[in-house]
Amino acid sequence: MKIISSIVEMQSYVRSLKQDGKSISFVPTMGFLHEGHASLLREGRKRGDVLVLSIFVNPIQFGQNEDLDRYPRNMEGDCQIATECGVDIVFTPTAAELYPSGFQTSITVKQISQPLCGASRPGHFDGVATVVTKLFNIVMPDVALLGCKDYQQLAVIRQMTSDLSMPVHVLGMPIVREADGLAMSSRNVYLSPEERQSALCLIKSIKAVRAAYAAGEKDIAKLRNLALEIIGSESSVQIDYLEFCSGITLETAVVADKDTLMVMAVKVGKTRLIDNNLLNEDL
Ligand code: PAJ
Repeated sequence: MKIISSIVEMQSYVRSLKQDGKSISFVPTMGFLHEGHASLLREGRKRGDVLVLSIFVNPIQFGQNEDLDRYPRNMEGDCQIATECGVDIVFTPTAAELYPSGFQTSITVKQISQPLCGASRPGHFDGVATVVTKLFNIVMPDVALLGCKDYQQLAVIRQMTSDLSMPVHVLGMPIVREADGLAMSSRNVYLSPEERQSALCLIKSIKAVRAAYAAGEKDIAKLRNLALEIIGSESSVQIDYLEFCSGITLETAVVADKDTLMVMAVKVGKTRLIDNNLLNEDL
């Protein structure tokens, strides 16, 4: 496994691979890898001749009072998982390499970045869209794999690649959960044992809403109240948002149907967690 931190070196290596007719699959991450990331890497391994993983904690997608400084890191553990998943190249640039002084470009994907996490984290998706554009220009992937765990992020990147005619196929991958249903996240490490238990209200609320929907309930207000009741019963959990929207446009849904996405962000203590579920798809 090759580890590269220079943009020029990465680009010239990729060019030589492409000249040899190799296809590239790519998994962008911020590191502290877990089974969710590994699932993307394993699928990526099958989808291209050369599998590239990037590890970069992207400062421009964090807000002022967010966890940039304490975001968990573990390069050694990440390299072990990367090796096990068959990664060929790990791209690990520094912030100075990606954003040298004088950097002044930002990518904004307008409507789809506005609601949900875009409303609670101003500028977040500009930071994501900008870094992903840079990474795509450096890695030049044929296929990029992203998780549905960050549903809006996936939607923003799909919109961007389509609008800007980027020559990359974006593949969305299912959410990987712990045995008890908590969605895997690098941020789960912040949770105390009590908070970890309280965080299960997310999957409990998803299961309750799915059961009601499957039994014929299509009234969004009723489905939402059901979820609010379950999450509201946990005193350490603060709801940031809990919405039902179109899984395609992310516009607020009026009646639940086969495309309806239940999507939420909460704070458990100081830790922000997100989760979502397409009511009509397997959990
Ligand atoms: P990060 O949070 O490290 O996630 C990297 C990729 O792993 C994302 O596509 C995310 O959706 C996916 N992922 C995370 N947890 C998952 C889970 N439980 N199941 C399936 N996939 C999961 O998302 C980012 O980094 C950054 O915003 C990035 C796109 C790299 C830009 O900086």
